[in-house]
Amino acid sequence: AGPTQIFTFPDVPALSQGLDTYVAKLSDEAIRRHGKFTVAISGGSLPKQLAAVLKHNKSVDFSNWIVYFADERCVPLDHEDSNYLLAKTELFDHVNIPQENIHTIDNDLVSDPEEAAEDYISQLAKTFATKDSVRFPVFDLILLGVGPDGHTCSLFPGHPLLKEMTSWCAYITDSPKPPSERITLTFPVLNHAHHVAFVAAGAGKQDMLHQLLDAPGHLPAQMVKPVTGTLSWFVDDAAAAKITSA
Ligand code: 6PG
Repeated sequence: AGPTQIFTFPDVPALSQGLDTYVAKLSDEAIRRHGKFTVAISGGSLPKQLAAVLKHNKSVDFSNWIVYFADERCVPLDHEDSNYLLAKTELFDHVNIPQENIHTIDNDLVSDPEEAAEDYISQLAKTFATKDSVRFPVFDLILLGVGPDGHTCSLFPGHPLLKEMTSWCAYITDSPKPPSERITLTFPVLNHAHHVAFVAAGAGKQDMLHQLLDAPGHLPAQMVKPVTGTLSWFVDDAAAAKITSA
């Protein structure tokens, strides 16, 4: 993989503009190349930052988007903690992604995280072929956030899941960030994507971004190293304030 690219923007509206340009371009390229755009979206502050400008972009062919969640909380799809509900409110309600192309956690399995993760693997297999024929799904784009402890997706520092190297999607029942039960894509899936982008804004992320980008280490966000894909950071000036290597 090439060097990590860091794109900085004066504020969140400008960051959303930059994300719009980036995602629209990747969507175009992917749809031209293979007729669809496969993207995984995180929760937290990302859906709003992503959608602010993109949801008005009439040039994007959302009808060929295939959407997964980088991680999802094991709550009903209409629960306020649901990453799906957030992405729906911010983005899906405003654009024409076919409902069957939006791969949610199975609403009937949210009380059984292990089953929910298994089901999510079956869903991934529908888009990316079965586990017998491909080693890992290759997303066109995975959009990630980062927590103050350096977690990304639901991959938390020191957690045994950091060592998961075969499964496509895993469950956890002890997430330090509530709610505790979640499903998450695993590192090999993140690292096989064509493009991975972190999005981080606000002064609250200053110290973590400094640590992640200036000091080599093994925090979850630092374990995202696409094998052949690109790695980009979209950050605002507030979050970037302490980065010295950029
Ligand atoms: C989740 C997220 C998680 C998030 C980070 C950053 O479901 O909780 O996917 O990995 O991206 O915790 O969250 P903020 O953007 O809200 O800081």
